Amino acid sequence: MPASTWWKHGIVYQIYPRSFQDSNGDGVGDLRGIASRLDYLADLGIDAVWISPIYPSPMADFGYDVADYCGIHPLFGTMADFDHLIAEVHRRGLKLILDFVPNHSSDQHPWFVESRSSRSNPKRDWYIWRDPKPDGSPPNNWVSNFGGSAWQFDEASGQYYYHAFLREQPDLNWRNPELREAMHDVLRFWLDKGVDGFRVDVIWHLIKDAEFRDNPPNPAWHPGRPEIESLLQVYSNDQEEVHEVIAGMRRVLDDYQDRVLIGEIYLPTERLVTYYGKDLSGAHLPFNFQLIQTAWNARAIARLVDEYEAALPAGGWPNWVLGNHDQPRIAARIGAEQARVAAMLLLTLRGTPTMYYGDEIGLARVEIPPERVQDPWEKNEPGLGFNRDPARTPMQWDGSGHAGFSTAEPWLPLAPDHAATNVAALAADPRSILSLYRQLLALRRNTRALAIGTYRAVQTDGPVFAFSRMYGSDQALVVLNLSGEQTTATLGSAWDGLRVRLSTHLDRFGEEVGSEIALRPNEGVVLG
Ligand code: GLC
Repeated sequence: MPASTWWKHGIVYQIYPRSFQDSNGDGVGDLRGIASRLDYLADLGIDAVWISPIYPSPMADFGYDVADYCGIHPLFGTMADFDHLIAEVHRRGLKLILDFVPNHSSDQHPWFVESRSSRSNPKRDWYIWRDPKPDGSPPNNWVSNFGGSAWQFDEASGQYYYHAFLREQPDLNWRNPELREAMHDVLRFWLDKGVDGFRVDVIWHLIKDAEFRDNPPNPAWHPGRPEIESLLQVYSNDQEEVHEVIAGMRRVLDDYQDRVLIGEIYLPTERLVTYYGKDLSGAHLPFNFQLIQTAWNARAIARLVDEYEAALPAGGWPNWVLGNHDQPRIAARIGAEQARVAAMLLLTLRGTPTMYYGDEIGLARVEIPPERVQDPWEKNEPGLGFNRDPARTPMQWDGSGHAGFSTAEPWLPLAPDHAATNVAALAADPRSILSLYRQLLALRRNTRALAIGTYRAVQTDGPVFAFSRMYGSDQALVVLNLSGEQTTATLGSAWDGLRVRLSTHLDRFGEEVGSEIALRPNEGVVLG
């Protein structure tokens, strides 16, 4: 592989730490557990591990409510466990990315405790406090992402504070220079420990309208959709000044070698790409969630890839995500068979892929009985179908009790078929989705065209999406049947004589292909 920054040619793997591996028998995953599974990850062929928050937290939003930015929650272990983990990650040539949650802290964070203690407290302005309207109502009409008003009244000091998420997650005020400096120190704390980068939570939320104007109503909203969508988020996020804040974080990272800044951003493409920043001074990788949001058919996907490629700023490196801890799992959304095609798509497109733990064993939606619901969003807005628990269930390792995840009942249920859907069983099956992931990862690592080559759409019709990847004389042609029907793709004579390097069905290896290729239902191939 030619020299290229690790986060460009590498593959990121997201771990939801509560659900990866429990080492102390409390039914919740932890850092020692993750460390004990690093050989699996290295062997799988990923390059970097991103771990969702592990900091001290009351767990109102499962760690996205941070009470100490420079500590480790006892549930996950100790700082010594963290130091052990990072050493073990690096010993295997892997990278470690932490989740950084700067938009809000926990209401139990000492900064907020001070801030709410009085209007004149020096940390008052570290959070967003506003007077009530004359009639006592909230300062504006903004809605929390988890439903209800985004403003919480504080009786003692007579003002409201703003929370874009739970009331236990007050928003920090990034217009305050002291807060910014304190947060930069947090970044340096972890960078000094050797952390290779950060995934920054809701980075597009960091700056709000200076005047806190009302958001306009969304005419397309209807009951049954989350309340947050009832307003267009014109003033509550994606403000121009956020780019300076991100550039500030970036300067902190740039004082270190080879660290990556990834931003969580749910915005349409033309807004998303602004997060590369002026002259690429922003996020290295503004997360691209379009594969999560698109209708799953060849034309829609072909169009979105082309539009994304065209919208990227010069030098901006693309990236692709299929799932995360906030979204339904890919296998739940498009079915087990198309999930294999999706894996091939993710691992052959141009740009850094991010995998979500468990997708490689085909985990789908795990039903959560009402009495076991954990997600605060589901508790606030029940029954709308936005429970995030079904995508956060424990990793299934083997056929032993609790699937090898824990010796205790896990915090969320396992999939009912865990005796068959687990790493050990699937590793032993050469045609399993896990075997497919391994081969795709190996192929990407060993094929320059796939890792860092150019992207070009190849004209096809019907349910087929095809594209080429090129790097010098190294080339690959990817042809994906996005349907459950048998089909024939006409590729044109330019591609005559290529051979199958990988099929999602894990057969046909070496088969020579002419200007047409027959694809079985839900089959994708890489030719080269
Ligand atoms: C991000 C996280 C999500 C969390 C929210 C509030 O979207 O991914 O899990 O609930 O931010 O921090």
